[in-house]
Amino acid sequence: MIVTLEPCSHQGLTPPCTEALIAAGVRRIVVAAIDPDRRVSGSGVERLRAAGIDVAVGMLGSEAESSDPAYFHHRRHGSSLVTLKTAMTLDGQTAALDGTSQWITGASAREDGHRLRAKADSIMVGSGTVIADDPLLDVRLSGYKGPQPRPVVVLGKRPIPPAARIWGRNPLVIADRHHDLPAGELAIVASSDDAGVDLTQALAEVAERGYLDLLVEGGPRIAASLWRDRLVDRGVFYLAGRLAGGRGLPVFDSAWASLADARAIEIVAVVQVGSDLRVEWEAAERMSG
Ligand SMILES: NC(=O)c1ccc[n+]([C@@H]2O[C@H](COP(=O)([O-])OP(=O)(O)OC[C@H]3O[C@@H](n4cnc5c(N)ncnc54)[C@H](OP(=O)(O)O)[C@@H]3O)[C@@H](O)[C@H]2O)c1
Repeated sequence: MIVTLEPCSHQGLTPPCTEALIAAGVRRIVVAAIDPDRRVSGSGVERLRAAGIDVAVGMLGSEAESSDPAYFHHRRHGSSLVTLKTAMTLDGQTAALDGTSQWITGASAREDGHRLRAKADSIMVGSGTVIADDPLLDVRLSGYKGPQPRPVVVLGKRPIPPAARIWGRNPLVIADRHHDLPAGELAIVASSDDAGVDLTQALAEVAERGYLDLLVEGGPRIAASLWRDRLVDRGVFYLAGRLAGGRGLPVFDSAWASLADARAIEIVAVVQVGSDLRVEWEAAERMSG
């Protein structure tokens, strides 16, 4: 038998995989990656070997990990893998001063964005984006029948209108005090001074609910807070084939004081999507653990 992930040796929602393999009489197993889940972490391989099965470990291990990076990240760090997705003009503006931003990129890039959503299990925005754009934060791809990501809204002082479409999507709303919500689930966390909800705690609420793969879709204030707190693991930036030609809302709504404050990222892919560019990057220092 050839498996990407080490067979588990503990009772979870289902019985241990190791016992099923032993009972089935499998004689040789090739495991690509050891399961970093602390309930497994090598004990599955040990159990199989103790039962006399020949087990080889590590073949194509990094390829196996890259097929599901969020799982490995969550099990190692206890936090969701945080991906910042933003669409901007080539000169770095995500919305005009009047708040309009739909649509900066073309149809192909937007469809690509929906494929990103389909890979995520949760999507976070700040309440500013909900108020401005009234988004659904769902996957809209023709023929798509997979699971829909859970919307996560970081609530500030301004209320979200009861008619907002997000209420129909059972959002997880994270706030620093009690609110009577028309729908969804409320998680209350502390606030970080006057800067709104403490995002380290907000991400802990997301991870505790078992969401592995969190896509952050803005806006500029939430993006700035997450970046400041070193909570972003990687990003997908869509750079539109158009120039704003002036100052609107930048990717991060915060000041850049000095060159030394700019942090290195690793650019892992640049692809043209229709008339736009898709730039994928990873934070050089992953801090969300
Ligand atoms: N191009 C893109 O990819 C893209 C994506 C998303 C949004 N946008 C655009 O961005 C604009 C909205 O910007 P925005 O900055 O208001 O949206 P936002 O970042 O989604 O929401 C910010 C609001 O969230 C609340 N908040 C609570 N805790 C916070 C914390 N720790 N850090 C930051 N905010 C916290 C605050 O609400 P209170 O002020 O009520 O306290 C804050 O004003 C719209 O024009 C939208 O079209 C563009």
